[in-house]
Amino acid sequence: MQHFLKETDFKASELPALFNLAAGLKRGRGREAAPVLAGQTWAMIFAKSSTRTRVSFEVGIHELGGNPLFLNKNDIQLGRGETVEDTARVLSRFVHGLVVRTYEHAEVERLAAHGTIPVINALTDFLHPCQIYTDAFTMAERWAQGGDLFGSLRGRKIAYLGDCSFNMANSWILGGALFGMRVALAGPPEFGPGPEIDALLAQEGLPKNYEFTTDAHEAVRDADVVYTDVWASMGQEEEAKERIRVMTPYAVTAELFAEAKPDAYFMHCLPAHAGEEVAQEVLDNPRSIIFDEAENRLHMQKAIMATLAQNARA
Ligand code: CP
Ligand code: NVA
Repeated sequence: MQHFLKETDFKASELPALFNLAAGLKRGRGREAAPVLAGQTWAMIFAKSSTRTRVSFEVGIHELGGNPLFLNKNDIQLGRGETVEDTARVLSRFVHGLVVRTYEHAEVERLAAHGTIPVINALTDFLHPCQIYTDAFTMAERWAQGGDLFGSLRGRKIAYLGDCSFNMANSWILGGALFGMRVALAGPPEFGPGPEIDALLAQEGLPKNYEFTTDAHEAVRDADVVYTDVWASMGQEEEAKERIRVMTPYAVTAELFAEAKPDAYFMHCLPAHAGEEVAQEVLDNPRSIIFDEAENRLHMQKAIMATLAQNARA
C-alpha cells in the first residue's frame, strides 16, 4: 500500500508525472474526465485547526467523485483513548483512504502500518508534505513556462527564514533534497534543524545539501524564493512571546526581500501574521504568490489522491 506520509513516499522519478497530472487537473477543473474516487469515501481526521488543508481536501475528494468524511479527532473515540491501531483497522473496513492532521508524526505512521488503506499526512509536527509538493508545483508553474515542470526546480535556491526546527523547515530540507533544490535556512541558533531530519535524509539516501545560518542576509542572497512560516506553530501558542523576541531578526521585510534575486518570489504556507514573520507590503508585493500557492493545494492533492487510489487498485 502506497501512503504519502513524507516527501520521499514518491520517488523523484515519479514526480514529473505527478506534477503534470496536477497541471492537467488544474486546467480541466470542473470537467473531470475520470471520477477516480467514484463510490469511495475518504475520511479526514483532524486534531488541529485548518482552513486550506481541510477545504482543499474536502473539495478535492468531491471533485474526484468521492465523498469526504470530516472527523474532528475529539469527536471520535480516538480522542478518548481508543488506540491508533484499532482506529486504523476499523476505518479500513469502512472507507477507502485517510487524510490525517495531528501532532505526533508517529501517529500517521501507525495509522498507515495498521490499516489497509492509503494514508495522507495533512501536517504533523515533523512534516507537511502536501504543502511542499504544492509549493514546488507553484514555483514550477512560474519557471517552466510550458516546458518540463518538475525539471525546472533543479538548481534553484530557496531561502527559508524563522523557525528552522519544525514541520515546514523539515519538509523543505527533505523536499529540497528530493527536488534537487538548494535550501538555505536562517534562524536563531536554538531553532536550527534537529537530528531527526538528518537521520531521515540519511535513511532515504539523500544528500544533506541544506545550509543553516544565523544570518538572514546570507540565506536570502541569490535566492529564487524567500519563504517563511509562523514563528509559533499550532501547539506552541504559549511560547509565542519568546519566539517573537528571538525571531524578529528573521522577519521578511521589504528590505530583506530586496536582497534576494530581482525576480525572486515570496511564499508562505499561510496563515500569516503580518507584521511578525512577514511585512504586509511583502505579502502584497506582485512577486508574492501566496494565493496561487493556496489554490494549488487543491490541484496537487487531487493528483496525489488519484495516484494513491490508482496504485491501491493495482
Ligand atoms: N497551509 C496550511 O496547511 O493551512 P491550513 O492550516 O489552513 O490548512
Ligand atoms: N508551522 C505551522 C504550519 C501551518 C500550516 C503549524 O504547524 O502551525
